[in-house]
Amino acid sequence: MQTVHLTSRNDFAEWRGVARRLLLEAVPPDEVIWVDPGAPQDLFGAEQSVGQVTGRKVGTVPQRFIDWAEAGICHSDPERFGLLYRLLWRLQKDKELMEVRSDPDVGKLDRRVSAVRRDAHKMKAFVRFKEIVDDSGRERFVAWFEPEHFVLERTAPFFARRFAGMLWGIVTPYRSAFWDGERLEFGDGGHKEDVPADDALDPVWKSYFAAIFNPARLKLAMMKSEMPVKYWRNLPEAELIPELIRGAKAAEEAMIERMASIPPSRHLKQMERAEPGLPVTEVFTSLAEVKAGVDACRRCPLYEMATQAVMGQGSASAELMFVGEQPGDQEDLSGKPFVGPAGKVFDAAMAEAGLDRERAYVTNAVKHFKFVPKGKKRLHQRPNAGEVKACSFWLGLEREMVKPTLIVAMGATAVSSLAGSTTTLGSVRGRVTVLADGTRMYATVHPSYLLRIPDREEAARERARFVEDLRGIKGAMGW
Ligand code: URA
Repeated sequence: MQTVHLTSRNDFAEWRGVARRLLLEAVPPDEVIWVDPGAPQDLFGAEQSVGQVTGRKVGTVPQRFIDWAEAGICHSDPERFGLLYRLLWRLQKDKELMEVRSDPDVGKLDRRVSAVRRDAHKMKAFVRFKEIVDDSGRERFVAWFEPEHFVLERTAPFFARRFAGMLWGIVTPYRSAFWDGERLEFGDGGHKEDVPADDALDPVWKSYFAAIFNPARLKLAMMKSEMPVKYWRNLPEAELIPELIRGAKAAEEAMIERMASIPPSRHLKQMERAEPGLPVTEVFTSLAEVKAGVDACRRCPLYEMATQAVMGQGSASAELMFVGEQPGDQEDLSGKPFVGPAGKVFDAAMAEAGLDRERAYVTNAVKHFKFVPKGKKRLHQRPNAGEVKACSFWLGLEREMVKPTLIVAMGATAVSSLAGSTTTLGSVRGRVTVLADGTRMYATVHPSYLLRIPDREEAARERARFVEDLRGIKGAMGW
């Protein structure tokens, strides 16, 4: 029997070094005891330390095993190291093993991987930073979070990308992460008391939360365990939940009264009908407030996978608005719409048509990137009708703030978001149509459609048609 003491709870490289060595020595899985690094140590137990072996590869294993093992090792199950070694051992003989979902070991790892991914998503959604000022007067942000699994190291790079300009730390019971604006460092775990309990930021979170609160949605989120009660204790806005549930009815009545006395514009009325209890006109009075709402949005599950929400870009006084489908890979990373390949096509065609993008407000029907991971790539997925509908709330608010004289819908998703799912792009392309609320809409294809046409000549023809459509906008604008 060999006893292995790993030093880290979730370091795949460390586990792999030891597993390689065991494999080279042909030690069967049932002859290894993996001691959970988080468990109290038995100082008197017999042990044999297994050092690391570097420079040799574990016999080729499928990429799926590596991906799953990197995630699965972050699970809190003390048996995870042994499970991974058993699978690695079995993979030496059966290369297809990872495809056999009915296999108990594969199934177990699959469930652990899903739990870890879910926990990492929860962490992205529920970490709340508190502001502190250090001795040198610099602002720092610190958060306390209790993940179910050991997901801090997986999730910290997300915060580093998202809050690149802030100095922040996240403290968990098992480890802490710090970002100094350039480097991510990890240290020991801490205690809830290490992090200030209240601060000036809390009211901000609370007001966003009140703005997006809808008791029906909360119930649904709890049922779907998107916002499990156990996370509430560290969320400043959770204090508001009972009050909001009680207040929803009164808010609805107040809203009806207000609507009777101050007639909001037609599509805002529709939005408020769709959102009982949410006084839209009071909560959102500027694009900056809409952006804050978009950033905190949980109206559909797309926020879970995306790096960040991508709000529209441009001036609130723009007369022309462009609406695409949803951010792509590069937009998701940069936080800006139409900056990737489709954006390049868009920019070039705009210039050719004599239009200035800077004069327009450019946004998307859906604000989060929907994709499926494939290896290192993230493959675009079209948003479904529910996601488009959920996000039309934000598009409606952008329209309300900008009040463009013409909205250009690019592609079928934008058309269906603006004109309804029964309107086809073909039926409205290249001309002005008037929407039910009186807004003028002009439709054309989505620039990424041009990138997908395999035949060169056809692609050139379609591109010329797109530029023609854009030229038509000048006439529609009277420019
Ligand atoms: N496609 C879109 O619809 N929007 C973007 O922002 C990028 C690609």
